[in-house]
Amino acid sequence: MKKRILTGDRTTGKLHLGHYVGSLQSRVALQHEYDTFILLADVQALTTHFENPSLIHQSILDVAIDNLSVGLDPNIVTVVQQSAVPAIAELTIFYSMLTTVNTLRHNPTIKSEAANYGYDDMTYGFLGYPVSQTADITFCKAHLVPVGEDQIPHLELSRKIVRRFNDLYQAEVLIEPQIMLSNCPRLVGLDGNAKMGKSLGNAVYLSDDADTVSKKVMSAVTDPSRIAKTDPGHPEICTVCAYHKVFNAPEYEDICTQCRAGAIGCVACKRNLAKKLNDLMDPFRERRAYYESHLDEVKQIIATGTEKACAVGNETVREVKSAMSVLL
Ligand code: TRP
Ligand code: SF4
Repeated sequence: MKKRILTGDRTTGKLHLGHYVGSLQSRVALQHEYDTFILLADVQALTTHFENPSLIHQSILDVAIDNLSVGLDPNIVTVVQQSAVPAIAELTIFYSMLTTVNTLRHNPTIKSEAANYGYDDMTYGFLGYPVSQTADITFCKAHLVPVGEDQIPHLELSRKIVRRFNDLYQAEVLIEPQIMLSNCPRLVGLDGNAKMGKSLGNAVYLSDDADTVSKKVMSAVTDPSRIAKTDPGHPEICTVCAYHKVFNAPEYEDICTQCRAGAIGCVACKRNLAKKLNDLMDPFRERRAYYESHLDEVKQIIATGTEKACAVGNETVREVKSAMSVLL
């Protein structure tokens, strides 16, 4: 029996290159080795976007297609719509007894997200979404969760809840999930912002066409001290260079050396990067074109995956209830 992966994305808009290097890339690489579940997290999306349900609705298909476009094979991965799996909601309730409000309030990711969204108070659902995320991971007894760094506090909570559950109810029902961190550092925004994000307006979307990607790269912030092509540059502060490191590793050292020596111009350097990104993304575009013209097939992939998830989840709920002696 293969070990299982569960990971997922909030359905609050299209996915971008930050998602790709943070998690999607590992999903694709591991899909044959692990039994892979991909969660379309539309309930978690509600925790911040409950006032915009139509965006969430549209994004379910967008995020599914983003995942398929990068090369996840629908014949082997299970794509799941979170809101359609009752087990996740049930487990969330049981787990909510196993953590405290103060623990949740001190979660650094919750804190920084609350600050970003400008919450002075927050909903019970938002504060508790890491508990619900524990249900996402454990309904199918996932062993491994490939995610970016911001998810570490959530995974630590999940592990704690699982240990607490197994210990308290003297059962080996739940599996303590391992985090798998991406080996790429967080992708900076091409505008020089520390983070690429859809809310920051600086994202390169997996669905961007080649022209759009080139335009975004050509307008990226570089080392401001480079006015003439021969001015010596500082690649370590240049966003374009940070992208070369991730998407053009073989040439990275060379680009740094040439930049420092004033031997390449920023325009040529950006053109090179745009080409590398588009080479990476061309196969994504080809698969996307197929799925976008076969939406019924995408819906079927989600329906089939969700049905399987419901069966797996119901079994876990049965075991959980049995361990908690709530079954008559
Ligand atoms: N919180 C994750 C994010 O913002 C999305 C997510 C929801 C998730 N449920 C999950 C990630 C379960 C891993 C496992 O990216
Ligand atoms: Fe950045 Fe390249 Fe210009 Fe150097 S040459 S500053 S690495 S864009």
